[in-house]
Amino acid sequence: MRVLIVGGGGREHALAWKLAQSPLLTGIYCAPGNAGIATVAECVPLQAEDAADLKEWALAHKIDLTVVGPEAPLAAGLADHFRAAGLKVFGPGSAGARLEGSKAWAKEQMSRWGIPTAGFAVFDRYEPARRHIDTLPEGPVVVKADGLAAGKGVTVARTRGEAEEALRKIMVEGVFGAAGGRVVIEDCLTGEEVSVLAVTDGKELLVLPSAQDHKAIGEGDTGPNTGGMGAYSPAPALTARLSHAAVETVFRPLLAGLNAQGVDYRGVIYAGLMVSGNRISVLEFNVRFGDPETQAILPRLEADLLPPLLAAAEGRLAGSGLELRASAAAAACVVIASPGYPGPYPTGQAISGLDRIEEFAGADEGLAVFHAGTAVQNGAIVTAGGRVLGVTAWAKELPAALATAYRAADQISFPGCYFRRDIAHRALGRKEES
Ligand code: AMP
Ligand code: GLY
Repeated sequence: MRVLIVGGGGREHALAWKLAQSPLLTGIYCAPGNAGIATVAECVPLQAEDAADLKEWALAHKIDLTVVGPEAPLAAGLADHFRAAGLKVFGPGSAGARLEGSKAWAKEQMSRWGIPTAGFAVFDRYEPARRHIDTLPEGPVVVKADGLAAGKGVTVARTRGEAEEALRKIMVEGVFGAAGGRVVIEDCLTGEEVSVLAVTDGKELLVLPSAQDHKAIGEGDTGPNTGGMGAYSPAPALTARLSHAAVETVFRPLLAGLNAQGVDYRGVIYAGLMVSGNRISVLEFNVRFGDPETQAILPRLEADLLPPLLAAAEGRLAGSGLELRASAAAAACVVIASPGYPGPYPTGQAISGLDRIEEFAGADEGLAVFHAGTAVQNGAIVTAGGRVLGVTAWAKELPAALATAYRAADQISFPGCYFRRDIAHRALGRKEES
């Protein structure tokens, strides 16, 4: 099998690393990839947005399966384009990708199919939206730009005043462009967030082990939001009972609803859930693997990842007997970021300490450094993004995985490099309580 992965971040490195272990594989390519991905796959100098060129390349290189990493090319119809040319793709077409590409559409789907989510209202114009905020009781409220805004389109406002300010930025100043032409104003939920991902062929689904992301830049979840500063898996907040509830009250009704509308969804559905006591609510859907959750989830999988992705792309998960069971191990991913991130940051800084890093793993442990934003310059690996590396370790217990990930992260350096020291603090705190 010849596999093409589209994208070039930490998630795509983890996907390439896991798929490269498949005995079914005869070739693995990644467009555009990065310096770390180049160690497990052949990088192709095409961007994820270049749908026509990617399709021509995939046809010319007889690619059997294309796995699309990021949301933007999915929303733009990359998978439709490939399928129309007879290529197999893991990733939804643009109709299914609206689950992430339009928050209003996603919310409408949730209310239509009875999926638990925060109460909401949708507005296309500023004045009615502002008046709506005025009618809300004083207290937190969430304001969301409808379209793709690189994870920055959501404001959890503590007061009505903050909510109006966020609304003005989106609808009057237009800081997110067309993505802010419509807004969703929703009730603020409290609890603990977990990420649950399911691989689906549109009819059947295989749920992946749960994970928890750390969105804020600072320890104790303080400071501005980032693309994700670390993750771990499993997330104990999602008990077996709640995981079952996610399948029965979120994934199955959503799939049935998509089917009823003729949306043939083949790929990952990522449900960002808020867990509060014994209840779950959907905060968001994503139409792709999470980043950095994927880096913590995939090393825990016992099975070959290629057969389920291929079966999903071919629409034959039912009766396939395929599973995505995790080994008992826990995994943790610590993201090393550039100084200044999530604001402006320098690039081209030489990274030291990457050699022989695997030696930091103890017996029965695993370690992988997934590259998020790196490049090769004059033969040396340099920084090329805000999030640079995801140092990931797995072990029988979460504390051991964390200790190994941090031991390795401490060996890696570049000027001003930064990482959070408290990844998995919620899971560790929970253990102390019990
Ligand atoms: P979204 O892209 O919709 O998941 O929003 C990004 C982040 O905003 C989520 O991960 C939550 O931390 C937060 N968020 C979104 N919706 C809500 C909500 N209704 N209540 C509280 N926090 C929310
Ligand atoms: N980790 C959050 C996301 O992938 O959107």
